[in-house]
Amino acid sequence: MKTAALVLFAGRLAYGFAGLRDLKARAAVLEGRGTNELIGDLATLRDDQLTPTGRSIKSLLTGGGIPEELIDHYIFTPAIDSPQCKADTCCIWKHIADDMKSMMVGSAGRCNDLARQCVRLGFHDAGSWSKSTGRGGGADGSMVLTNECFDRPINRGLETACTQLAVWHDKYKQYGVSMADLIQFAANVATVTCPLGPRVRTYVGRKDNPTPSPDGLIPDPFQSADQLISLFLDKTISPDELVALVGAHTTAQQRFVDPARAGDPLDSTPGVWDVRFYGQVRSSFTPRRVFKFPSDVSLSRHPDTRGTWNLFSGLITGQIPWNLVRNNRLGPPRPFWFKG
Ligand code: HEM
Repeated sequence: MKTAALVLFAGRLAYGFAGLRDLKARAAVLEGRGTNELIGDLATLRDDQLTPTGRSIKSLLTGGGIPEELIDHYIFTPAIDSPQCKADTCCIWKHIADDMKSMMVGSAGRCNDLARQCVRLGFHDAGSWSKSTGRGGGADGSMVLTNECFDRPINRGLETACTQLAVWHDKYKQYGVSMADLIQFAANVATVTCPLGPRVRTYVGRKDNPTPSPDGLIPDPFQSADQLISLFLDKTISPDELVALVGAHTTAQQRFVDPARAGDPLDSTPGVWDVRFYGQVRSSFTPRRVFKFPSDVSLSRHPDTRGTWNLFSGLITGQIPWNLVRNNRLGPPRPFWFKG
């Protein structure tokens, strides 16, 4: 009996691993369809001229390495002003992460309004860059530092996050923390506060920019898939990667696309980092309150994005490929996320 159970268990494990390998293989195929395009120093310097961090980022951007950080964590964090903390680059960030997290989890254990805005803010600060506009923009803190958050209608709904980021920056800039890094870090901390949200490694070292970034580079919800695909390709993001990134809408609620339906979620589990969003955008039997952006519907139907959209729609089989492709885009400071 015991032996039979063990054999069954071993069989299940083998089956599980084979399934996982298959899902990873499918994610790898999608990764291979990424642009893998490098800009700045990463594109021009040889590997032996790069710092270990530069090599690690390059490897992630070209499909190598693992962007998720599952092992490293602090057992004891030195006091914030102690010499031990000053001597350890990550220590201040652990203090900041604890501070952020305490404000990002709602009473039901899901990520709250502030967290979701922080995820979106990370995208809007970084997304204001493109190959055609050249230098300027990117993940440079300008969303908060130059008031883009309040001055540009495309950023409506991000006011609370921007105000909170300014408070955190005032508190932590004495430790050498840039606004640009703080925004991207807040997006990563926010992600992990959503149930199922992956713990993605954060790289720091971005420079702040006191001038506004180019306008018109953030997508709007009435753009067609064709427009979105070319907008993102110009940021070195492939169609598959665009589909993976937009999956952040799984946590989302809208307030300004249709103010009469303010607060409506984009899938039936807002605040949870699952793949339900993909299936519900496609489905004709979506729960009544779920709000569909025309841009998401268009991406779910376009011949260049439909296949990947469908792949991510599987409740079990979608999560792993989605996380793997998405994390490879968000883990490292892709040129799009990191301009400096
Ligand atoms: C096709 C491209 C995209 C379009 C057109 C788009 C548009 C929008 C719009 C209009 C909202 C609702 C704002 C409101 O009414 O409050 C929203 C919410 C959101 N977006 Fe996007 N977005 C896109 C891609 C992305 C990407 C790439 C990310 C993250 C990596 C992202 C993350 C979010 C999040 C987390 C929210 C929810 C914010 C909240 O609940 O307060 N979006 N997006």
